[in-house]
Parts: sequence; structure tokens; C-alpha cells
Amino acid sequence: MGPKDAAPILLEGLQRLEYRGYDSAGVVVSNKGLKMRKVKGRVADLAAAVPARFKGTLGIGHTRWATHGAPSDVNAHPHLSTDERIAVVHNGIIENADELRAKLEADGVVFLSETDTEVLAHLIARTVGETDSLEEAVRLALKRIVGTYGIAVIDAQRPGEVVVARNGSPIVLGIGEKEMFAASDVAALVRYTRQVVHLEDGELAVLKADGFHTFASDARETAKEPLTVDWEAGHYDTGGYEHYLLKEISEQPDTVARTLRGRLDDRFHIAHLGGLNMDARETRSFRRVKIIGCGSAYYSGQIGAQLIEELARIPADAEPASEFRYRSPVVEPDTLYVAISQSGETYDTLAAVQELKRKGGRVLGIVNTVGSAIARECDGGVYLHAGPEVSVASTKAFTSTAVAFALLALHLGRVRDLSPADGRRICEGLRRLPGQIKEILALEPQIKELARKYADSPSMMFVGRVRGYPVAREGAQKLKEISYVHAEAYPASELKHGPLALIGPEMPTVAIVPDDELLDKNLTTLGEIRARGGRVLMVGHRTADPKLADDCVVVPRNETELDPILLSIPLQLLAYHAAVALERDVDKPRNLAKSVTVE
Ligand code: AGP
Repeated sequence: MGPKDAAPILLEGLQRLEYRGYDSAGVVVSNKGLKMRKVKGRVADLAAAVPARFKGTLGIGHTRWATHGAPSDVNAHPHLSTDERIAVVHNGIIENADELRAKLEADGVVFLSETDTEVLAHLIARTVGETDSLEEAVRLALKRIVGTYGIAVIDAQRPGEVVVARNGSPIVLGIGEKEMFAASDVAALVRYTRQVVHLEDGELAVLKADGFHTFASDARETAKEPLTVDWEAGHYDTGGYEHYLLKEISEQPDTVARTLRGRLDDRFHIAHLGGLNMDARETRSFRRVKIIGCGSAYYSGQIGAQLIEELARIPADAEPASEFRYRSPVVEPDTLYVAISQSGETYDTLAAVQELKRKGGRVLGIVNTVGSAIARECDGGVYLHAGPEVSVASTKAFTSTAVAFALLALHLGRVRDLSPADGRRICEGLRRLPGQIKEILALEPQIKELARKYADSPSMMFVGRVRGYPVAREGAQKLKEISYVHAEAYPASELKHGPLALIGPEMPTVAIVPDDELLDKNLTTLGEIRARGGRVLMVGHRTADPKLADDCVVVPRNETELDPILLSIPLQLLAYHAAVALERDVDKPRNLAKSVTVE
């Protein structure tokens, strides 16, 4: 809201959030009543459906990713109350929607959509008349809701205010010059303002053109300090690349350098991680490290666990946050918990962190998005500084997370038994990474050819041993999520315990084979695969040799502990070019969303 027409700003903002995945879109503006357009399909389709005379200086808009009811014009948000006075957009899931709908229907309310959200529009409409306050009506309606939400609500009879609320789904306010914004992601705001305020779970805000106030679910006012974000609108452009994904893969020499910047100390061969908020004595006191994250974040956590075990000699393991939160974990006082998230908003990871905090666990966050919910919830942490990651498939955040873990492992190691000589070796290895990533990116033409060659396979196996195993898992994940080619990842050591039965000419294997102490074992596995007619694409340090593999991608060597970071990059390019060859929607793969802010 503000002096300008809302619709173009809403459409532009929705377009900025397109990368998060959606199936329908809609907008409402307020101008002597509410005017609404919504369509199944793209924001461009919505823009085409919005008439030239769609004027109003206040509005709300939404892109929907279907949870309750199929993608359709009617199920798209916003949703209106029957009298068309209240309009609501909502991210999240209302778990007791069926029960509330039944009660409202029994009272004669007629629902137009199958969504859970429409319940909210009707609930608010019922109290707004009695309370004569939109904020109070929203607050009271939310008291009846079980579930997660990030909502924005407008009232046709109050054309000067928007009420927003957060519980589990992000809401960020943007403070402009005599104009106010709110969105689920700063990406939608950075063209207009860098001054933002993140709402906490359970918080609400009333926005007016000249300011805002925030309050808790019990109506108590809360105090918020605006934060300045350092991401610019330009960071959200494709920068001349055909896809965001290729841009983000290509940025990795810079993003890895940014994760390292100012954090390596050449005098003591240690890592400076001021954000951990722990002194040396406390840092020494941990006897275990437990890492949690989802999807690719979890796989980078597996790389992290190995780095911590190898460099700091502390037992460490990684687990999907989505599982951890549901199994009533034993939380130990001498365990350091580390939560990983690019977006900082993944609901499963956030819920796991909250469960840990509730049980008194010490949680660090390795997060890309400054000020995000997970970053705020943790006791301290390491920001990646990788810049916004737009493509649904994570690439630069994955490598930067692995680098952040190398820094954390160095830090934990050097307050324990890691020698200065080994500390120096790791510092030097980390400094070599950006240049070596450039060398790997130069292999793109070769990897593109290989992707074309293998993209027709109905299924692919990815194998790696110990350090190579999380690399294989991430490689399989990248391939399946953007090319839709089925891929399995196995520890190479496990192949003969079952999955070898799948191997044949129709199922090629991508084998991660670094030149480490397990090289001979890996080469034996390759022999076993080839003896059964399986084709092998080897990614490692050995020069191409047709006796070992059908195809080879040779990457530069670093320190053994850091090699997984480099070995991951050819697999990103392989997945990217396979997806392009198969004409997939590379940046917005089907069924997936960038930030999974629902259960
Ligand atoms: C990565 O390619 C995936 N799209 C997905 O697994 C992602 O890493 C996961 O959902 C976690 O996201 P986060 O890092 O934002 O928490």
C-alpha cells in the first residue's frame, strides 16, 4: 500500500517468487470494494487477465501450490468472504479446516472453493462487524486455527490497512517511503526497499502506508527493529544465463570465496567464526555433533559430519530433520546440534530446531538467508553469504554449506588435537577451492556431451565410498529432481549386498572415485559393475582409462578431506545438461517448491 497502483507491484512481486513453484495465482485490489482476478497457471496468465482499469493503491496477491483441492481458478487465492468484504491470502496448512468448514456450513455459509484458506475469510468476516477492528477479528479467528500460516488480510471497509500474521510460514515486512509492503520472501521486496522486519511465529502486524505495529496472539504489542538486507534486485536476474541453475552453478568460485572471506587465520591456522557465540572452553566441551537438515541440506550435512570426525575427531552424524523431529530424539547436554538450511524457512528443519531448543539443546545454524526463521531460532551460527539461490535445485548453497562445515571442523579441531600443520594444510586447501572450481566449470562441454549420452537411460546408479557417498547421494538427488530420470545412490561397499542385481547395460553407474585410501576398493567395485555389462562414468582424480570406466571426468585434487566439495560440481553440471537435453523445466521442476514451508 502507498501512493502507487498496487496491481503492477503485486504482479512483479509474484513474478519474483515464481521460482518457489506454484500452480495458480491471484490478486485483489481495494478501491471502493474489492476487485479480484485469479487464474490457474502462470503469473503471466494472471497479468493478461488483469484489465487495464484495475486500479487501487492497496492490494494482496498470491501464488498457490495446491494442498487442499486441485489447481484451479476457484481454488487460487485470494479467498473472499461471502459478502466480499474480507480477502485473504495464505501460505501453510490449516489442519482443522474440515471441522471448521462443517461448523460454518451448518451455520449456512456457502463455500466456493475446496481450500482450507476459505475458512479463514469466513471466520474473519463473522467477527469483523462485532469487533469493529480488522486486527482484532484476525487475531480472534487465528485462535480457532490449528496449523501453519503466513497470511495477509484486507477489509473492503478499511482501505488503509493490511493485517498479516505468521505461524510457521514466513512473513517479512518491507518499509518504504510512505509505502509498506509484506511478502513471504524478501525477493519480492528488494526492488522497493532494503529495510525489512521479520515476524516471529505467533506474531501479527497491522500495516498502514506510513508505518506498522506488531503484536502477539494475546494482543500484547511487540517491539521490532528493522534489518537492512544486502541482497539486491539484480541478484534475482538470470544474468544472461539460460537458467538460474546454470548461473548458480557458475557462480560457485565466487560464492565459495564469499563463504571463506575473512574467516581463515594464517597465523594460528584456525577459522574465525564469530557468529558461533561460544568461547574455547565451551567449544571443547562437546562430545558429539548431530547435524540436521532436509534434502540436499542433509546430504551436505553428511559431508559435514565426516569433516568434523576427521578433523576434530568428535563423533558426528547427520539425520534428516524431517525424521529427527518426529522420533522424540534424546537431547544430550554435551552434544552440539547443527541445523542446515539455505532458505532458513524449511518447516521440518525449523520444527526440529524448536524441539531441540525446548529440550535445552545447543543449536547452531548454517544458513544462507540472513534473518530467516531458522537463523533467528538458533543460538549462533555461520551465514553462507552465497547470495540468493533462486533455482529450486540447490547447488551453490550445497557447496557453501560444505565449506562452512570445513571451517567449523577446523575450528572444533584446532581447539582440540588438530595440529597447526594440519590446520595450515586445510586452510591452504580451502583457499585453493575457488580456482579449482573454475577448472571444473571449464569441463562443461565434456560433461554436456556425457549428459546427452546418459540422459536416455531409464535409471542411473550413483555410488561412492565413505567421503564419496554423500556426493553420490547429492548427485542422484540433483539428477532425479530436475531431469526426472530415476536415480539411486548406494555406498559402493553395499552394491554386492543387493543392488548389483539391478546392474546391466540399461542401468549405467556414476562412480565417485577420489584418489584416496579407498581407491583400490572402488576400482574393484567398478570391475564388478563392468563384468555385469554395466556402463560406468567415473568422476574422480584418475586420468581417463578405458580399462577402468567407459567415461571419466577428471577433477583437480585438493586435500582428501575437502575433495567431496569439488567432486559434487561435475554432478551438478551432469544433472543440468541431462535436464536440458530432456527439455525439462530446469528451474521449476514439477511438484517441487523452493522453500518447503509446509509439513
Ligand atoms: C535441493 O536441490 C532440494 N530442492 C531440497 O532438497 C532442499 O535442499 C531442501 O528442501 C532443504 O531446503 P533448505 O536448504 O532451504 O532448508
